[in-house]
Amino acid sequence: MNRPHISINFAISADGKITSVAHKASGWTSEEDSQRLKQLREGADAIMVGRGTLEADRMTMTASNSPLRCVVSRSGNFDFDHPLFHSAGGAIHLLSEKPLTVDLPDVTSHSGSLSDFVKTLHLVHGVAHLHCEGGGKLVRELAELDAVDEIHLTWAGHHLFGGKTAPGITGLPGDYLTDSRHYELLHFEPREDLGECFLSYRRLRD
Ligand SMILES: NC(=O)c1ccc[n+]([C@@H]2O[C@H](COP(=O)([O-])OP(=O)(O)OC[C@H]3O[C@@H](n4cnc5c(N)ncnc54)[C@H](OP(=O)(O)O)[C@@H]3O)[C@@H](O)[C@H]2O)c1
Repeated sequence: MNRPHISINFAISADGKITSVAHKASGWTSEEDSQRLKQLREGADAIMVGRGTLEADRMTMTASNSPLRCVVSRSGNFDFDHPLFHSAGGAIHLLSEKPLTVDLPDVTSHSGSLSDFVKTLHLVHGVAHLHCEGGGKLVRELAELDAVDEIHLTWAGHHLFGGKTAPGITGLPGDYLTDSRHYELLHFEPREDLGECFLSYRRLRD
């Protein structure tokens, strides 16, 4: 494979939503879920999010092993006052359709497609494992490329978000993918005390 191994991680409500219609910010799941999120970051060479998630969750994408911090956008409409650009951590790699001029240390701008971007991270920057923390629009595009190798979910039975315009892990309901994607369940950890269940799946390939 001339791309990294790609994992994703989401908290989902009982009805499979990653956020509410009003885009409730992160922080609606348990401390154990936050710990798991941090643990999953530790195993990655790079963390990636869509610009929507970066903005909504005000994240700095840090971990003790200083993974690369990657944010993708088509518009290139990054807010350089965002805490990401002013926090210590791994080098930052941005994707946009057109090249950007960025005058900040440790920030590299890339242009082109998502697929070329993940290849470049692998071939040029040595990323063997890329961990994506959402959101749904970005993961939909990774799923279209059949580039989701591992799925980690926290199923949070204590929240029902509802709403046609509340996204799931592949965004808003839309067209089917051209083929089904098959995964095997690797980890199933119900936590009745938390009202949550921790799940992990691995892509089955022929
Ligand atoms: N529950 C959870 O675990 C969880 C996890 C993550 C996020 N969330 C929530 O989900 C919401 C954000 O998700 P979202 O689906 O709206 O946004 P998203 O996927 O984070 O970001 C979407 C943006 O990413 C860029 N993008 C997507 N695909 C691209 C591609 N192929 N090439 C280049 N750029 C691409 C585009 O940016 P431009 O518009 O700049 O072109 C697009 O508008 C927030 O409310 C957040 O809190 C929840």
